[in-house]
Amino acid sequence: MFIVLEGIDGSGTTTQLERLAAHLTRRGRRVHTTREPSQGPIGRLLREILLGGHRLPDGAGVDELAMALLFAADRRDHLTREIEPALAGGLDVISDRYLLSSLAYQAQEADRTWVAGLARDLRLPDLTILLDVPVPVAAARRRAAGRPDERYDADEIQTRVAARYRELAAQAPNAVVLEASGSIDEVTAAIARAVDPRL
Ligand code: TYD
Repeated sequence: MFIVLEGIDGSGTTTQLERLAAHLTRRGRRVHTTREPSQGPIGRLLREILLGGHRLPDGAGVDELAMALLFAADRRDHLTREIEPALAGGLDVISDRYLLSSLAYQAQEADRTWVAGLARDLRLPDLTILLDVPVPVAAARRRAAGRPDERYDADEIQTRVAARYRELAAQAPNAVVLEASGSIDEVTAAIARAVDPRL
């Protein structure tokens, strides 16, 4: 199974990724966890940019269409370098973010059809789980965790991304939306209920 967790920043995908991996391991499955931006060369560059690096002399950040291309390139590299080999080896792969992130974040500024076109022929997940959390709840979680400010953190951006995520999840095959403002244990249990019947 190739399973993806998605959601706005602070929605809990990183915490729940580890929880889901532990759940699957207890069920006797072999699991590989990963995330995007990936640990590969393009993913590392993306993380530097997201934290405010590589600015132009006038302070402007990397162009948003260039970001869309980098996220798409990182995904191809991630798939070839890490995801496909793990699946071929019989492991379940769980990724913290994948294609829906690009469609939710980059298709704000960039044309939606163009962003979707960058993913043509891409391997799609067997299951995408959207962790749906109100924007103020996610922002409070990020503050409580002391996370550094990132490129897309502004509430206006997160509100647009959240709305787009819901639209996308409603249309995407193999996607489920889970209300995820409850406790960590409650959300883990809801994820397990969504995943188990599909194993
Ligand atoms: P995040 O997943 O929160 O990672 P970290 O815990 O390291 O901060 O940050 C990744 C950011 O990148 C997040 O704001 C979403 C954004 N992003 C996109 O805009 N498009 C994409 O395709 C991906 C994978 C991420």
